[in-house]
Amino acid sequence: MSDFSKHILVTGGAGFIGSHVIRLLVHKYPDYHIINLDKLTYAGNLENLKDIQDAPNYTFVKGDITEADFILELFRDHDITDVIHLAAESHVDRSILNPMEFIMTNVVGTVVLLNAAKAYWSSNFEGHLFYHVSTDEVYGSLGETGFFTEQTSYDPHSPYSASKASSDHFVRAYHDTYGLPVVISNCSNNYGSHQFPEKLIPLFIHNITNNKALPVYGDGKYTRDWLWVNDHARAIDVIFHTGKNGETYNIGGFNEWQNIDLIKVLCKVMDTKLNREPGYSEKLITYVKDRPGHDLRYAIDSTKLKEELGWEPSLQFEEGLEKTVDWYLANEEWLNNVTSGNYKAYYETQYAQR
Ligand code: NAD
Ligand code: TYD
Repeated sequence: MSDFSKHILVTGGAGFIGSHVIRLLVHKYPDYHIINLDKLTYAGNLENLKDIQDAPNYTFVKGDITEADFILELFRDHDITDVIHLAAESHVDRSILNPMEFIMTNVVGTVVLLNAAKAYWSSNFEGHLFYHVSTDEVYGSLGETGFFTEQTSYDPHSPYSASKASSDHFVRAYHDTYGLPVVISNCSNNYGSHQFPEKLIPLFIHNITNNKALPVYGDGKYTRDWLWVNDHARAIDVIFHTGKNGETYNIGGFNEWQNIDLIKVLCKVMDTKLNREPGYSEKLITYVKDRPGHDLRYAIDSTKLKEELGWEPSLQFEEGLEKTVDWYLANEEWLNNVTSGNYKAYYETQYAQR
């Protein structure tokens, strides 16, 4: 008989958001066994979890969510009671270069996990939960005004958002068809420590540090709603424990920034931190060819999450951005490790023709 009250399979736990979710769960719930399943793609990094790797309630398993037999065996081996599913290919630009990988991991991988959960829990679904972590990008693009709510129709434009939308539909279909207990959350853009430097904020911190051009897509007037990653992890904790079966929750910080305004604030913070003269980093801004199918604006209405489950973001953006910059500057070795090898080849392909 196990001493743990739950055995939670967290997929993609070595990635950016997953590592924050795992750290929170391992510390906060010593009576839960947290099993981190990760393929360790370019985006997965066990260094992200060095501080908790020896915790008695934590187990790492290297593996691929698309491998059905292996996944079912994993459910059996660890007597999985719940799933928090984060594993995904997550970068829009990479999805434009190679959509098939996104279909395999994000769509097929999700269905493989759903099948395993359905089969392993089939005697009684009660007390189990399949939590699917998704994105606001499934809703498509907003004009100058308005917000995405849980009722907004799906309208994805990139191969990434199309694959996430598809996976969301499968999760709902397994709930409606087979009665599998599920929740879905759709979150806005995250920022914080341990994010791979292909996404806007860590990429630009890395480039500013190294005096490299800052490639701003199009006119830089695209708008994103930024949330501190630790607040996303807190929201996942709240939804996992108190969310209603079959429901969707939008997660966002009511914190919209046009890219160019955010980049200018980041340049200022970096100038101060690096003891550079004011205006130095802004000179690195370079407008480049736009991303195809670029969504103009994302903005999340997270009223439901606040009113029904009591979650609110804990941190103001400027404070979170400064904390993030401090982390990257203090963890140069982490950045150097993840930007060696394949990163260089990706960077050259992605930015060569822009
Ligand atoms: P990430 O790219 O940093 O991490 C993804 C993790 O999944 C990596 O550790 C990778 O090794 C693992 N992985 C990839 N393919 C796998 C496979 N086939 N089998 C097992 N593991 C695999 O991504 P992230 O930014 O941490 O995003 C996590 C989740 O949150 C994703 O589902 C993403 O769609 C969603 N999300 C991200 C954001 C954001 O701003 N980053 C916002 C909203 C939602
Ligand atoms: P990104 O971090 O890739 O997140 P997402 O596409 O999922 O929102 O990009 C955030 C915004 O920054 C988006 O509008 C694209 C833009 N961007 C650039 O202008 N230059 C870049 O080099 C990158 C990576 C993104």
